[in-house]
Amino acid sequence: MVKPHGGRLTERLDFSDRAREEAMEMPRLSITLDEARDLGNIGHGVFSPLEGYMTREDFENVLEEGRLSNDLPWTIPIVKDVDKKDVEMLFQENEVALVYSNLPIAILKVEEIYPYDKKEYAEKVYGTTSIEHPGVAALMNKKKHLVGGKITLINDPPTEFARYKLWPKETRVLFKEKGWKTVVGFQTRNAPHVGHEYVQKTALTFVDGLFINPLIGRKKRGDFRDEVIIAAYETLFEHYYPRNVATLGILETEMRYAGPREAIFHAIMRKNFGCTHFIVGRDHAGVGNFYGPYDAQEIFYEYPDLGITPLFFRSFFYCKKCGTVVNEKICPHGEEYHVNFSGTKIREMLLRGEKPPEIMMRPEVAKVILSFKNPFVE
Ligand code: ADX
Repeated sequence: MVKPHGGRLTERLDFSDRAREEAMEMPRLSITLDEARDLGNIGHGVFSPLEGYMTREDFENVLEEGRLSNDLPWTIPIVKDVDKKDVEMLFQENEVALVYSNLPIAILKVEEIYPYDKKEYAEKVYGTTSIEHPGVAALMNKKKHLVGGKITLINDPPTEFARYKLWPKETRVLFKEKGWKTVVGFQTRNAPHVGHEYVQKTALTFVDGLFINPLIGRKKRGDFRDEVIIAAYETLFEHYYPRNVATLGILETEMRYAGPREAIFHAIMRKNFGCTHFIVGRDHAGVGNFYGPYDAQEIFYEYPDLGITPLFFRSFFYCKKCGTVVNEKICPHGEEYHVNFSGTKIREMLLRGEKPPEIMMRPEVAKVILSFKNPFVE
């Protein structure tokens, strides 16, 4: 089975009563649900080899080189922002409890507190400083300092989708039980249209198993709500997927919309889950026109040492002349015959209460989406 990133799966867990009681005595830092989820990801090895929040050397190396200070590929900072009041408190303390909604999630061993340059962060990670970019907008609202240090998870973050929640240790057992030697991971933040299905099934033709791994967490306005994505995939599985070669599990972390850099991050997490291959199609993790349609594929050439094989796909569309779903590589017909799987068009139809045509979306999937009062993030 494919080795985790950095060689071994990180496990930073202590679910003992003693750890939990000690945390109750510690000074507290409040965290958001997305931060709680990422602590879960550190504790259970989704972010292997990270053991906590990045200290300055790793943070700066990630910005500059897209690698940790030991040269291991890593493209997205995993950091905790703090304000002036927190900084004063953290200078006095060795350990603090990270608390989400009164539940202590983790203990942070304070190693370093440092300022950072948001513009530089935005430029390096998102390739823009425009606040029209949702990742940049979120960054600009962050506090001015970062605290680095190892964490120990003492309570799992809450989840609404326990049925589909699998940690890398579990997916690795699952893939083994299924006898899959090669597994392709599929990242998504969307309810599936027919284009998604073609990408997945084309990839699956070449490997033993398909791991559909929707991202559950904070997303921008207009994106599908998490429960809609799950319900849509449940329906798609029920009607169109063979169970012995495809499985569904969630990844709880926020969307960063960082295009190429996020594609590498997405691939690393799927490697930790035990995937040997990872799908990168058109405008992976992109938003608006901030990235070229295949930038997220190009970046993989800078990471020959990634340890998971990317599978690249040109954009799939429906061709009226071919009478099926194709892409530019395999279709000889002109654009006048092509119908693109436009997320915007599909959303507009669904908002009007209309089912998108069957060449774009499976009728069963459209039906379940339309059963939600509002399928989109407001
Ligand atoms: S993403 O933000 O998670 O990348 P989305 O859920 O739409 O968005 O895409 C999931 C994966 O499918 C990405 O790798 C994306 O590039 C790919 N993809 C989406 N639509 C198409 C398409 N029409 N043709 C080829 N690949 C696609």
